Amino acid sequence: TSAEKSGYEHFMMKEMFEEPKVIKDTLSPRIVDEGITLDNVNITAKDLENIDKIYIVACGTAYHAGVVGKYIIEKLARIPVEIDIASEFRYRDPLISDRNLVIIISQSGETLDTLVALKESKKRGAKTLSIVNVVGSSISRESDYVLYTWAGPEIAVASTKAYNTQLAALYLVAFNFAYKKGYIEDSAYKNYISQLKELPSKVEEVLKNKEVIQKFASKHYNAKSIFFIGRGLDYALSMEGSLKLKEISYIHSEAYAGGELKHGTIALIEKGTLVVCPVTQDDLIDKMVSNIREVKARGAVVMAITQEKNASIDKVADVVITIPDIDSLLAPVAAVTPLQLFAYYMAIEKGCDVDKPRNLAKSVTVE
Ligand code: G6P
Repeated sequence: TSAEKSGYEHFMMKEMFEEPKVIKDTLSPRIVDEGITLDNVNITAKDLENIDKIYIVACGTAYHAGVVGKYIIEKLARIPVEIDIASEFRYRDPLISDRNLVIIISQSGETLDTLVALKESKKRGAKTLSIVNVVGSSISRESDYVLYTWAGPEIAVASTKAYNTQLAALYLVAFNFAYKKGYIEDSAYKNYISQLKELPSKVEEVLKNKEVIQKFASKHYNAKSIFFIGRGLDYALSMEGSLKLKEISYIHSEAYAGGELKHGTIALIEKGTLVVCPVTQDDLIDKMVSNIREVKARGAVVMAITQEKNASIDKVADVVITIPDIDSLLAPVAAVTPLQLFAYYMAIEKGCDVDKPRNLAKSVTVE
């Protein structure tokens, strides 16, 4: 009913507007005395020494959160991380041992492939840590450790706020592990923690800008195919942006790593092709600007998403959506919101049922 939507036209929009609150709900109980605690996740510095590899296993949007997790855990905690799709992992006789930690990510906690991957990991002696939204769900019950995302009920089939909180949980894990391993100094740790605390207000700023995205969507909703191109964390983000768009607007789209463009995808860029580029990684901006030039030279229309400080990227891109200035490492939490809004408005313009897209289920509990 409309009452449950608290005045919003769709659950998806309501849930996007809940992002600032649920990011805060996920972060704040774990930020104690200027440090990070992971509830009852009892993984000590000594335990971490014995972990020679982490696997992250999930499906759909949760998998895309996991791709961000891989980048940040490797970068900060210097532990190799393999990211896998649950339905691939469970059937490939994975090389799991008691020297591994398996991080399972799931909004519902009931996705069958993910649950089986968890059970398989336990059977092979790994410790399991689940990042789950639904309290008491099958995955939460089967795991050694659980870190709940406090996103609240997510009704729209296309996941939005759950993704932001999955990222928040992964940052907590990455910073906590890095600190325990001695890879970040006290001062840097405190600095990251204070930046984490600012995330909710940053996302709030992004939501205020929604009309710019709506306007862009109203001009381009007839696109037949859209490419999402990014590098590093922006590549992980591109995958989620592309999935969101497909799920609810039924527009074909693909996510590509910037450096891969020239290995094939560039052949598909022609006059008027829409290309969406998150450009939030300071050390990769120049490379992305070159990629934007490459697609522009072939006639593409480019929408870039970047921090305010990089707004001059409008010299190369057609439209620039800015997010508040934010450390590159933490940018995905705020930069995903414009991509979610973009998918939403494209779907609305096309007259699609955004909350209940065709052929999709909120939770896939069958093979
Ligand atoms: C379904 C949903 C997706 C979700 C995926 C994994 O496909 O439509 O939105 O990302 O399942 O679900 P989970 O509950 O395990 O995160």
